Amino acid sequence: MSAKEDKPETRLISEGRMSAEHFGAVNTPVYRASTILYPDLAAIKANSQPYTYGRRGTPSTRSFEDAISSLEGAAKTVSVTSGIQAIGLAILSVCSAGDHLLMVDSTYEPTRILCDRTLKRFGIETSYYPPGDNIAAHLKPNTKAVFCESPGSLTFEVQDVPAIVKAAHAHGASVLMDNTWATPLFFQPLKHGVDLSIQAATKYIGGHADVMLGYVSANETHAARLHQAHGDLGLYASGDDCFLGLRGLRTLAVRLARHQETGLALARWLKGRPEVARILHPGLEGDPGHALWKRDFSGACGLFGVILRPVPEAAVAAFVDGLQHFGIGYSWGGFESLIVPAHIRRTASPFAAEGPVLRIHAGLEDAGDLIADLEKGLKRLKEKS
Ligand SMILES: Cc1ncc(COP(=O)(O)O)c(C=O)c1O
Repeated sequence: MSAKEDKPETRLISEGRMSAEHFGAVNTPVYRASTILYPDLAAIKANSQPYTYGRRGTPSTRSFEDAISSLEGAAKTVSVTSGIQAIGLAILSVCSAGDHLLMVDSTYEPTRILCDRTLKRFGIETSYYPPGDNIAAHLKPNTKAVFCESPGSLTFEVQDVPAIVKAAHAHGASVLMDNTWATPLFFQPLKHGVDLSIQAATKYIGGHADVMLGYVSANETHAARLHQAHGDLGLYASGDDCFLGLRGLRTLAVRLARHQETGLALARWLKGRPEVARILHPGLEGDPGHALWKRDFSGACGLFGVILRPVPEAAVAAFVDGLQHFGIGYSWGGFESLIVPAHIRRTASPFAAEGPVLRIHAGLEDAGDLIADLEKGLKRLKEKS
């Protein structure tokens, strides 16, 4: 257990440990359980057992959720099987039929699809606001929640979260935030007034590209309704996946420091290249979101965008397909470097890109090796241009 004054780096190591209950084992073992036995009928009647049924939690889920609550400063954390499930759960725990949800236009694309398709079917109406806007102008009488993601997916605009919280709360609306980019190590949404903090733990918390996991952390006012929706919907995360999430958590600080350093090194190098029109990375001096990022965040992860100068598709393919150290694949936050084309879809605010947009994840490889790989790739791009 951490003391009140302990830093997040210490909490990552010391929270969620249950060694005394597990013969001194440092890590809580994996619990695979459905049935949990009671000693007698009196125990059922008293309903005071810490564990009652697999879906309602085991020491594996409790270890993970306790550690996360400590990091997030949360009253309650619930784990689920993916980031998108965490997003759906957070929205369903505050919005009902007839409510309006105000969503940032730079949101993760599957979040948009969830809102425009399934949530719409259940009578929750979503509209989108440009990421830089004062949200007050976009609130409606029936706005029940404002959903932000900062920096935004693919375009990396930083939002003024405290200003959003102020306007939303003045209106009586809850604030939900997808904080996957920063992780609770570099930004703590609840400490900035957000009500529900959402994380795709699939990314940096898992950290090894081998687990699908998500969670939602709530402040005091939202804890009961989050707990209820999680239980009503029958959501849970497996003991194996919580074990992997917790294992990733222990090394999050050292991994993120390296992802940050390499991400910035690649972004700075790419910025100086004639083939590149613009870099989308709030940690870079001169980025439109840099001042806000500096004010609110304590670091940057390894994910950023690159806008190339206009070139034919074949030139982009020659660049990307021949890279040795960058896998072509969705997701990010693992130990490995990745690159994918970014297809940006906006409905409230057009995003003007000078040329093709790529998203890069800087992994834990040597930064010099990655730069050498990119340099050879840009040579191929030039030859095909
Ligand atoms: C910002 C963001 N939020 C949420 C998710 C969804 O996470 P998951 O794939 O675990 O559902 C992703 C996945 O790419 C993401 O990039």
